[in-house]
Amino acid sequence: MLVNATNMLNSAVRGHYAVAAFNTNNLEWAASILDAAEELQSPVIIQCTSGAAKWQVSFQVVADIVRDLVEAKNITVPVALHLDHGTYEDCFKCIDAGFTSVMYDGSHEETFDINLQKTSEIVKIAHAKGISVEAEVGGIGGVEDGVASKGELADPAQCKAIADAGVDFLACGIGNIHGLYPDNWEGLSFDRLAEIKALVGDLPLVLHGGTGIPTEMVQKAIRLGIAKINVNTDLQVVFAKATREYIEAGLDQQGKGYDPRKLLKPGREAIVARAKELLCDFGSDGKGWA
Ligand code: 13P
Repeated sequence: MLVNATNMLNSAVRGHYAVAAFNTNNLEWAASILDAAEELQSPVIIQCTSGAAKWQVSFQVVADIVRDLVEAKNITVPVALHLDHGTYEDCFKCIDAGFTSVMYDGSHEETFDINLQKTSEIVKIAHAKGISVEAEVGGIGGVEDGVASKGELADPAQCKAIADAGVDFLACGIGNIHGLYPDNWEGLSFDRLAEIKALVGDLPLVLHGGTGIPTEMVQKAIRLGIAKINVNTDLQVVFAKATREYIEAGLDQQGKGYDPRKLLKPGREAIVARAKELLCDFGSDGKGWA
């Protein structure tokens, strides 16, 4: 059933586990993520960036796909449909399209005050419609430049100020990076996470860049207050690997192996299998209605 993300994340904080937020790219992704969550009776967040929405034509198409899948597949566990790293304008488009949750990423605004002010506005508008809101403090780095060995660390006082604006969950940089981690990555800063947690109390905290962080490190972060973990690249990598193996084995050239239903099946199964492993690592299996 489609719900906002507030209750499932508050339950995660109380139960000391984290809810996975998997990025969707298309029908295959959304269907596979839902299958994994239903099979393990786990709550789940399906999230979409504006780039992935453009690929699927629009936020409305994404919302229709996810809403219809949840209904047609009789998904019984709570599912939130969330905007990932949205601009101010994206948030309104998603609210109109029927998303149940939005992230306004104001970490790239010129000043922190602009981030705070726009976050507060989105909170008011979204909450009036029952939609949950994620905000971000301190950008999450990437390795596009090939040199990042360290993600940014959010300022705890700024985290507290954004928390007080009434957001439902907060992404804060603790050394995490989007994409694959470089070999010389310095790891998560548990000290910074603890400092932030001490100021924001029970507010669910979000770990972006969930791909490739050692499981023990992820689980320690969950014990320290992380309740939502974003995973994108990981599922892309397993999908690509399974598809590559199918083609390298020449299976697309045997019989009707070129049929997209055959060609995409190994990738789809790989997403389900990997998503299930991650749901178990994060401890949300069996927590469908916790
Ligand atoms: P990864 O691609 O590193 O898993 O990060 C996903 C993410 O944080 C989306 O917001």
